Amino acid sequence: MKKALITGASSGIGFEYAKHLDQNGWSLDLVSYSEDRSRIARESFQDSNNNYYHLDLSRKDSVLELLEKVDCPDLVVANAGITMVSKAGESSSLQRDDLYYLLCGGVIDLIEGLLPRLREKDTSRIVIISSIGAVTPMPKSSLYASAKSGIYAYGRSIGEELANEKISVTISLPGYVKTNAHKRAGLDHLEKKIPFWMWVSAEKVVRMTEKASLAGKSTVIPGLAYKLVKPFLGLDITSKLWKILNKRN
Ligand SMILES: NC(=O)c1ccc[n+]([C@@H]2O[C@H](COP(=O)([O-])OP(=O)(O)OC[C@H]3O[C@@H](n4cnc5c(N)ncnc54)[C@H](OP(=O)(O)O)[C@@H]3O)[C@@H](O)[C@H]2O)c1
Repeated sequence: MKKALITGASSGIGFEYAKHLDQNGWSLDLVSYSEDRSRIARESFQDSNNNYYHLDLSRKDSVLELLEKVDCPDLVVANAGITMVSKAGESSSLQRDDLYYLLCGGVIDLIEGLLPRLREKDTSRIVIISSIGAVTPMPKSSLYASAKSGIYAYGRSIGEELANEKISVTISLPGYVKTNAHKRAGLDHLEKKIPFWMWVSAEKVVRMTEKASLAGKSTVIPGLAYKLVKPFLGLDITSKLWKILNKRN
């Protein structure tokens, strides 16, 4: 039986990824923060042998604890994360440290810690859920965008490095996905403000990301609208339009 480790599996993209693999007979190590949310989520899974861990992945000791507890997975899905509004110059040092560790440093610690085990497998896969914010400016979310950019750069680099070792690395860059993330960040207004064609479902993100990972692709942008827009993201006109559509309170 294939085994996957998924972080942030109690909700949104991670939950859909877990459901998809569970329905396909995988055994799962599922990590999230809140025990209550995880209890509700686990009712959707068929395999009663799944393992559940409740850890704050914005802390280094939690990542080390996780590395001690889990065996070697065939697939790692580094997904756990939050969205954060942060006006330039107004965040605290603690907020920056926690966000950066959760979205970037902790993901690197997890993958680096697992790599010696992944190398023992015939083949294995790593999936990193980054964001379209990694490749486009996000005013008032600069910390989020830069952390996602950091993990994108790490993933692309190790992907090339590991290509000959039968370990694939796929970084997914979703745009707007309907999950709990925006509500948690106090960005409920975006649900009404962002046009419908810019939203992608969590199921679609999972379907496209898993397909890309199985095909050994290094990067995937789920959703047609984002795929079409990506070549133009560097242009001034696109940045202006993106800024208007994404205006954050
Ligand atoms: N939604 C979007 O529009 C969007 C777009 C691009 C990228 N993403 C990325 O997709 C990933 C998943 O987000 P989502 O949209 O699915 O959000 P979500 O529905 O809020 O789910 C987030 C998951 O991450 C877990 N998590 C958050 N902070 C954690 C912590 N400190 N320690 C352990 N687990 C933690 C949550 O666990 P608890 O429920 O226990 O807190 C939950 O399982 C994130 O990395 C996010 O940045 C989202």
